[in-house]
Formats: sequence, structure tokens, C-alpha cells
Amino acid sequence: MDRYVIRGGRRLQGTVRVGGAKNAILPILAATVLNRTKEDIILTNVPHIRDVVKMVDILRSLGAEITWSGNNMVVSTHNLSGFAISEKLMREMRSTIFLMGALLGRFGQVCISHPGGCAIGQRPIELHLKGLRKLGAQIREQHGFIYASCSRLTGAEIHLDYPSVGATENIMMASVYARGMTVVSNAAKEPEIVDLQNMLNKMGAKIRGAGTDQIRITGVTQLHGIEYSVIPDRIVAGTLMIAAAATGGSVTLENVIPGHLEAVTAKLRETGVQVREENGRLHVEAPPRLRAVEYVRTLPYPGFPTDLQAPMMAALVRAKGTSIVIENVFDSRFKHVGELNRMGAQITVATDNRTAIVHGVDKLTGAIVTAPDLRAGAALVIAGLTAEGETVVEGLEHIMRGYENLEGDLAKLGADIKRVRG
Ligand code: UD1
Repeated sequence: MDRYVIRGGRRLQGTVRVGGAKNAILPILAATVLNRTKEDIILTNVPHIRDVVKMVDILRSLGAEITWSGNNMVVSTHNLSGFAISEKLMREMRSTIFLMGALLGRFGQVCISHPGGCAIGQRPIELHLKGLRKLGAQIREQHGFIYASCSRLTGAEIHLDYPSVGATENIMMASVYARGMTVVSNAAKEPEIVDLQNMLNKMGAKIRGAGTDQIRITGVTQLHGIEYSVIPDRIVAGTLMIAAAATGGSVTLENVIPGHLEAVTAKLRETGVQVREENGRLHVEAPPRLRAVEYVRTLPYPGFPTDLQAPMMAALVRAKGTSIVIENVFDSRFKHVGELNRMGAQITVATDNRTAIVHGVDKLTGAIVTAPDLRAGAALVIAGLTAEGETVVEGLEHIMRGYENLEGDLAKLGADIKRVRG
């Protein structure tokens, strides 16, 4: 397996461009299933990441025709024949759960393997199933599989007990062809949900309210092909901002939507970093050493994103003072702590496994560490950039799921990072 070899101590400097958002393109690809016409869906700003490769494999296995060149993709789902996703493909990527809503909307039936748990905790899906049932789907769970069927779904009022991103997207996609109106309240407000709404509306759907906690979908009978550009990845942007901050750097990010990064910007400012917006670009200017912050609390958008909790912690390990990091979204998202401590960090995790106390240390030392999941992997890379000597980060397959070219971006900014094969 490939690994990163990083020699820490270099200050990041320069300009880098952020690619399309993983969490936007995945539901958007699922939504292409809803297009029954012969017209193509042309997507631009598509990131070349492993999760997208997997999603393309799944869509092709269902009969979609997809050509992908550079960051552009053409998707034809006219000849889609299958509505059963193979267990092997499903296991490789759990976020395919939102294909349920799209396939149900298109075919009136779907069979997928239950997503089960993953590295960052249980991945329950009861909110997805509850929503789809409210729309009239009949759902059976048996032998690790979920079977859903319906004649035509009917609009309903659905209150989510928790603003789940995936459940909101699933219900939006399932109700596009439903009879009448669907109202989702306590909906997730993430920018990726707004992107899905924009894409579906361009295809002819009638959806309003994404970005607020109430989304209204009026059922239509037909969608059509479109050309659509995916929003920039706020988590990749945030990772690079935090990497710049951790190294005392001076970095400008292009192709970002600064409004999507307000929670991160505010938290970085508390550490003493200057963040400036200039003509749609974000400039990050960090002091040689960060200040600790009282709290980082992850929350659904617009709160601090759980996907940046690990990277932020990696920056705080060398800050002056003690910071408290509280993970509210997932139940097992501190797997990076042990690896950071191997590099000399002083982090203790409370028994609730939700609270980490980060005592800032003067220095980290390079070590061989393993990425336990995607964002924890990015956190270890950031730690490596600031550590003395050599850090080897193994488990790159996780990082490849969501970063197009992390080593390339960081090397462009002056980091000493190499990807070593085999
Ligand atoms: C999406 C993102 C992921 C991000 C997360 C939270 C994608 C592909 N992934 O994941 O990167 O970390 O949002 O911002 O967009 N939950 C339930 N029951 C359910 C559904 C969810 O209890 O039926 C819980 C989950 O276990 C978790 C919390 O709700 O603790 C948030 O999950 P959710 O918002 O659904 O995240 P995902 O859509 O899986």
C-alpha cells in the first residue's frame, strides 16, 4: 500500500485551487438516476477521488453509461436496468444509501445491502427508512438487505428527529416524482443539500427551501438532461486552511465559497490566524504559534463541521494552552487521537468518547502512523507537516476517498511530502 513520507517544519506558502465537493457530487450522481430521458447529464468540476470512482462503478453496474474525462463527466441513465446494488459494491462505499430514494423514485423498487457500521461509528439509517415509509414505500429488512417497493410515492409531511444530511437528500430524491407535495422539516441545511436542490431544479424538479430547515418538494412527472457544475469542496478548503494555520503559513485558496467556511474561519481567528476574503479567494495568514481555543464543538451546518474536527485537533496539539474538542455528530470519531499522541501530542479522551482535552505541546516528533479514516488521515498529514523529522502516514486508501491530490496541493505550497508506492 502507498504511504506518505513527510519531512515536517516547512511553512506553507502560495496559492492552491480547490476542486469539486465529494459530498455534493455523490448525491448528485445518485440523482442522475432520476433522469428517464435520452438526454445526457453533463457534470463539471467533478473531483477525481476514490468515492466518485466507486459511485461510477455502482451506476455502471446498474446500466448507466458514463464517460469521465478530467473533471468533466457525461452520464446517461436512459438504459438503466437494475435496481439492486451488489453487496460487494455497497460494502465498498456506505454513502450509496441515498441511491435508495433515487432508485425508488425511478423504478418503484430497490434492493440494497444494509450499510452497517463504519470507522467513525454506527451508521444507523432509521431516519432514511422512516422518511421513505412516510412517502408510501414498503420496506423489509432481511438477511442484511433492505428491500423497498411502492406503486407511486405520495407526498407527505416528514419531520426528521435529527437533521441527517443523507436522510434529507434521500427524501428529496424520492419525492421528486411523488404525487403532491412533500414537506421535510428539521431538514439538514448543508450547502451540499442546496447544490442537490439546484441540480434537481435545473433538471425540472420543483424544490424550495434547501439551506433552511424546511424543504418543500412538489412532485413532477418528468425531468430532463442538463449541464451542471459542482460546488467547491468546503472540507478540502478547510483542511488546507487548517494546514496553513498549523504550519504558520500564508496561503490563498481559489475556487472556494467563503460563506460555506464561516465556522472554520471564526475558529481559526480565535487561534490568532487572519482570514481575509479577496475577490472570492480566501487568504489565510497564520502566526508562528497558534493560541488554544476554549472549545471546538462539532454540529450540523452551519456549526463547525465534524469532518474538520480531526484536522483542527491536529493544529491545536501544538497551540499555546489547552483546548477542548467536543464531537457531537458521530459516536466514534477520535481514532486519530492515539496516533497524534504517538507523535508527542498530549490529548486525553473522556470516557464518553465525545470530549477530547488537548494540552498544547512545544513540538511533535515524526513517527509511523496509520490513517484510520478519511479525515483522520488528513489530520495525521497536518501533524506530520509540523513535526520534527520524518512522518510516514500509512492507510492512504482512506485519504484517496476524499482528496484529489493532497500531496500535490501541499507540495505546491512548499511542503516536503512524497507519495511512496508499494
Ligand atoms: C454526511 C457526509 C459526511 C459528514 C456527515 C455529517 C456525505 C456523503 N457524507 O454523512 O461526510 O460527516 O454528513 O456532516 O455527504 N443518523 C442516525 N440515523 C439516521 C441517519 C443518521 O442516527 O438514519 C446519525 C448518524 O449516525 C450520525 C448523525 O446522524 O451520528 C449524522 O449523520 P448524517 O447527517 O446522516 O451524515 P451522513 O449523511 O451519513
